[in-house]
Amino acid sequence: MRKKALPALLFILSCSGSVFAQQNTGATDPIAQKVEALMAKMTLEEKIGQLNQYTSDRLATGPLTPNSSKYQEIKDGKVGSMLNVKGAKETRMIQEMAMQSRLKIPLLFGLDVIHGYRVTFPIPLAEAASWDLNAIELSARVAGKESAAAGVHWTFAPMVDIARDPRWGRVMEGAGEDTYLGSLIAKARVRGFQGKGLGNLDAIMACAKHFAAYGAAIAGRDYNTVDMSDRQLWETYLPPFKAAVDAGAATFMNSFNDLNGIPATGNAYLQRDILKDKWNYQGFVVSDWGSISEMVAHGFAKDNKDAARLAILAGSDMDMEGHAYLPNLVQLVQEKKIDVALINDAVRRILRKKFELGLFDDPYRFSNESREKKVLNAAENRKAAREVAEKSIVLLKNDNQLLPLSKSTKKIAVIGPLGKSSADMKGFWSVTWDNDHLVSLYEGLQNKLGKQTELLYSEGCGIKDTSRQHFAEAVATAKQADVVIMAVGEAFDMSGEAKSRSNIHLPGVQEELIKAVQATGKPVVVLVMAGRPLIFNWTADNANAILYTWWLGSEAGNAMADVLFGDYNPAGKLPMSFPRAEGQIPVFYASKSTGRPALDEKNTNYRSAYLDLPNSPRYAFGYGLSYSNFDFSDLKLNKSKLSQNETLQVSFTLKNTGKYAGEEVAQLYLQDVAASVTRPVKELKDFQKVFLKPGESKTISFTIDKEKLSFYDQKMTWGAEAGEFKLMIGNSSDHILLQDKFELVD
Ligand code: GLC
Repeated sequence: MRKKALPALLFILSCSGSVFAQQNTGATDPIAQKVEALMAKMTLEEKIGQLNQYTSDRLATGPLTPNSSKYQEIKDGKVGSMLNVKGAKETRMIQEMAMQSRLKIPLLFGLDVIHGYRVTFPIPLAEAASWDLNAIELSARVAGKESAAAGVHWTFAPMVDIARDPRWGRVMEGAGEDTYLGSLIAKARVRGFQGKGLGNLDAIMACAKHFAAYGAAIAGRDYNTVDMSDRQLWETYLPPFKAAVDAGAATFMNSFNDLNGIPATGNAYLQRDILKDKWNYQGFVVSDWGSISEMVAHGFAKDNKDAARLAILAGSDMDMEGHAYLPNLVQLVQEKKIDVALINDAVRRILRKKFELGLFDDPYRFSNESREKKVLNAAENRKAAREVAEKSIVLLKNDNQLLPLSKSTKKIAVIGPLGKSSADMKGFWSVTWDNDHLVSLYEGLQNKLGKQTELLYSEGCGIKDTSRQHFAEAVATAKQADVVIMAVGEAFDMSGEAKSRSNIHLPGVQEELIKAVQATGKPVVVLVMAGRPLIFNWTADNANAILYTWWLGSEAGNAMADVLFGDYNPAGKLPMSFPRAEGQIPVFYASKSTGRPALDEKNTNYRSAYLDLPNSPRYAFGYGLSYSNFDFSDLKLNKSKLSQNETLQVSFTLKNTGKYAGEEVAQLYLQDVAASVTRPVKELKDFQKVFLKPGESKTISFTIDKEKLSFYDQKMTWGAEAGEFKLMIGNSSDHILLQDKFELVD
């Protein structure tokens, strides 16, 4: 159907702040003055060159368009950025090409530093399980330092997509299902990457992605359609992006999906109305790989030229591997199909970042081989990786306190396809190195245990294959041991981009292997290493102890050994609900009551329930055990009624009643009992991670203000409504230990 082409001028006027705001800061802003001075010298072709980004020849992180002229185009000033270039030497070499161009405008070098550059940290979903914002910031800080020392200016992270469907492989990249936790983690990661600010030699640009709502792809199928109410968008999916803006994220990346019928890359509501106008965002937006040209496949653009027009109109500033802007924008301006003001706005935003990074003072300032050698893989970086990994591990089960194991155990059998795997510990979206040293579980045990312990090993089966031919050998090995540690889960490329799976049970015959080993009667500890929530009901019911260890990165094995033998008391809490079956998906804690809630899993007649499965997840958001126990008592509210401009003080006593020092994550949930739109039965509104020695107790306090009671009403106005609220405090979303009610009065 022919599209009514919105006259470019009319559209520009409708852009108001986002396009013209940049021009008014010249007088007081020295960088703006430099940008304007440079812009005045640039031809239209050179401006469009700044909007063009290519991948290196070393790595394609998307479908590759062959392009033998990219290096000549750099010399001709037709490229503004390169991605997938790494290392001081390689970035310097390519930057030298850009210095041959007429105006010598430096390139930006971007890379997916998602969970570590040289030292690999736990995958982001694992780090989210730590609920430790300092640890999460530390991880990003180390990644930022190593990247900057290696010539990388810009990471395409943090991925801040809320995700409630574990069939979607990219859940590994984010912070899970919860908006409140996800928003805090978004800030922590932006702070970590950008450190003390752009221009510092250890700071890199962050990139909040994928804008927006990519995690809500229908059926968990990557790149699939997203369709939701404005309320769902604003309440659940946008806040982590706003948090990234508030934290000063230098850039944004849009997303492959269409949102309510309009591809994000061509979505002016997202990129102009919300991001650049309402949020007054001054950074720039890079398209995701090829997403501009993919608007033809979406059926939204009739050809690549139309796609380029729609994308620049909608506020996509840089074209990543879309090969759309460079060949088409000059003609579109000449044909008056777009106003050059749009291009000027995009160029200003990009040049501003290059000035802020100090690249015009010294284009090679980040490409310093001696600094690279000193910073990369430094001992303190590996130490940080081990600490963050320990914090990311979640203890799901520990019958009869089987864990922690004794270091004087005589014989330990390591069984399972991930027992000696180091490559899989890297997880998806890791940076590849030839001489990488990743500590496998087996090596971690060797490092931990002395000669008094004999370590046995049997793979038992492959990760995905269905052969049971080595089961007998595994069982025989188990029979020789005092305790068995099973290492099961996913290969590193079974979760990640373009890795959606309809079956998220433990792959292959791994659960049968666990059954066979369990039948020996030996105590069995199961470690699940994966990039997403998996389904393993038999194991959950029958294994003595279970640790969810995700993919923990360079120091995986050492961190697992620290937890297994009690040198670190696990305190992780799940950032995503674990379904009992794929048929239950999406299952998440902040769900609505419905008119027929199934409050009692035994009485589900005419209730919102399944005939064949409980509604509850196998493991709930916020769930995780410790080697200690923590007692919650003495809940106090300083008032039972509060007005809109008052705050409510909440306190309770937390006591470590166990024999190990450890941490508990006290979680505060609220429910708006009756409101002008239905509200979730509970929402996380605060939490505190508290360290206590055995027997030690502490008063924990929370403050409730109007913001924590607010939501979008029927007119999409943000605010709090008078009425009753339920207050719940617990150590998991499904384990509330203290509760009370209070009233908000007008
Ligand atoms: C990929 C991903 C995006 C990544 C980009 C560059 O397709 O969607 O997250 O940053 O391309 O590798």
